[in-house]
Amino acid sequence: MTTNQTTTPQKCDESCSTCSSAQQQGAPKSVLKGLPPKAKIDVKHVILVLSGKGGVGKSTVSVNLAIALANHGKNVGLLDLDFHGPSIPKMLGIEDQRATGFAKAIEPVHVTGNLSVMSMAFLLPDKSSPVIWRGPMKMGAIQQFLAEVNWGSLDYLVVDLPPGTGDEALTIAQLAPNVKGAVIVTTPQEVAVMDAIKAAKFIEKLELPVIGIIENMSGMICPHCGETINLFSKGGGKKAAEDLGVPYLGAIPLDPEMVKAGDEGKPYILQHADSPTRKAVDAVMKNLVQQVES
Ligand SMILES: Nc1ncnc2c1ncn2[C@@H]1O[C@H](COP(=O)(O)OP(=O)(O)OP(=O)(O)O)[C@@H](O)[C@H]1O
Ligand SMILES: [Mg+2]
Ligand SMILES: [Zn+2]
Repeated sequence: MTTNQTTTPQKCDESCSTCSSAQQQGAPKSVLKGLPPKAKIDVKHVILVLSGKGGVGKSTVSVNLAIALANHGKNVGLLDLDFHGPSIPKMLGIEDQRATGFAKAIEPVHVTGNLSVMSMAFLLPDKSSPVIWRGPMKMGAIQQFLAEVNWGSLDYLVVDLPPGTGDEALTIAQLAPNVKGAVIVTTPQEVAVMDAIKAAKFIEKLELPVIGIIENMSGMICPHCGETINLFSKGGGKKAAEDLGVPYLGAIPLDPEMVKAGDEGKPYILQHADSPTRKAVDAVMKNLVQQVES
């Protein structure tokens, strides 16, 4: 993959292997027919982080869950598939890093000994370069992110997706081995929950399980006294999980410190050892591990 591909709109050569396999996907009846082979990557559990709606906290949850899993002793990869708005590198304070080692395999950015990250942002010339790509080109990039990145041996690959039910989710579901299913992030409000249900139905169409629903920004932690204030309604995520008959992984409060952590590139759970929000993230992580590994 070269960086100069990333900024210019390109017409894809219709005869390339990526496009022809993309064309094979055409049949709407089974979205999983005519698949290219699964990418070779040594990973036990691939977890998709999805939502029906934008801005509900997928990237924040992905970052904090990935770190929580790594703290829990797992070898973790974090793959940012939001090509148009990659936010994982900024949230981890590694947005100026670039992927290296293109000759043999692309070296991901190693955050700690057992947490590596890959994002389109590491391949772009600079932070403000937009990615103007057609679906099939993204498919090729996703294939490379799986097969050509030197991930090592992973217990978990956490995949942060763009909002909605688009190409990226379809492609990763098709190309990655051992996809255990999707975690759906929602906020407590009715509208967000409706979209979460839509996302869950999309995952079912991909013949994957919903690992569980996470209700993010659930109640607010007061910046003054640390007490919980129920700004919005609460419990929508749990209700959606019950209605759909899928596991509920827990709630993470709306915490001003989370926003600060994301903006400063210092992940929340690395800074807060013992807070209600930290406990909530750890509990969600443990529920996820239980769902996936038992
Ligand atoms: N639990 C939380 N408490 C407070 N703020 C939060 C929480 N979770 C996320 N946020 C904030 O909400 C904003 C959106 O979060 P984030 O970027 O993670 O959402 P997203 O679902 O990935 O968005 P997109 O759909 O654009 O990819 C960010 O400013 C983030 O810091
Ligand atoms: Mg995001
Ligand atoms: Zn207060």
